[in-house]
Amino acid sequence: MEIRIFENKEALSRAAAQYFIEVINKNHKPVLGLATGSTPLGMYEKLIEAYNDGEVNFKNVKTYNLDEYCGIDSNHEQSYRTFMNTNFFNHINIDLINTNIPNASGDLDAACELYNSQLNENEIDIQVLGIGTNGHIAFNEPGTPFGSKTHCIELDQKTREDNARFFNSIDEVPTHAITMGLANIMKAKKIILIAIGAQKAEALRKMILGDVTEEMPASILQFHPDVVILTDREAVKTLIK
Ligand code: PGA
Repeated sequence: MEIRIFENKEALSRAAAQYFIEVINKNHKPVLGLATGSTPLGMYEKLIEAYNDGEVNFKNVKTYNLDEYCGIDSNHEQSYRTFMNTNFFNHINIDLINTNIPNASGDLDAACELYNSQLNENEIDIQVLGIGTNGHIAFNEPGTPFGSKTHCIELDQKTREDNARFFNSIDEVPTHAITMGLANIMKAKKIILIAIGAQKAEALRKMILGDVTEEMPASILQFHPDVVILTDREAVKTLIK
């Protein structure tokens, strides 16, 4: 794992975007693995800026998102489809048909099966990840098997508490989600994981220095050959003195 520590979010976001720009510019049909949450927002802003400056073209780009809440419509303001359209897709020249997010509003088993077969046919060139305070990546909560593929999962109480800030109350936070599995994520050719702020310090420390265990899902990344961690001083304060 390579670890890059940034002095501010602006520089970190620019560097994160640069990894994606390089992959898009060197592939005819790039396949991107995307994430939601607060973590990648700055990177999406920088990618939109790069698109507006003519540095990158999304015409031939295909995307796969990590996860989607079950039980809310894709038009709901907190669905991950809405998040992606609002924060990224609507501002670039991507064809929405090439943007994939698990369909968590119908037959869930069929949606998982379809997503897995799509991921088998489309190797992800670069995947961006955040990390949950409980060590989850995507919505693979502690205890998820390392061999898992796209599946439906019950969200941890901690995850629902962390995400309640986006809803009117915790009662509105969905209880389940469809998520890419850890085996799907590990197949990505390159992974960048962004961790910002003191609240991520403990999870980051365990991910990098702790045992590789299903109780700390992100620890599986120790086995991936090409992971870059983009982080800040707050998040690594328990790693370096
Ligand atoms: P956040 O979530 O980006 O909103 O902090 C990250 C995650 O839960 O993976």
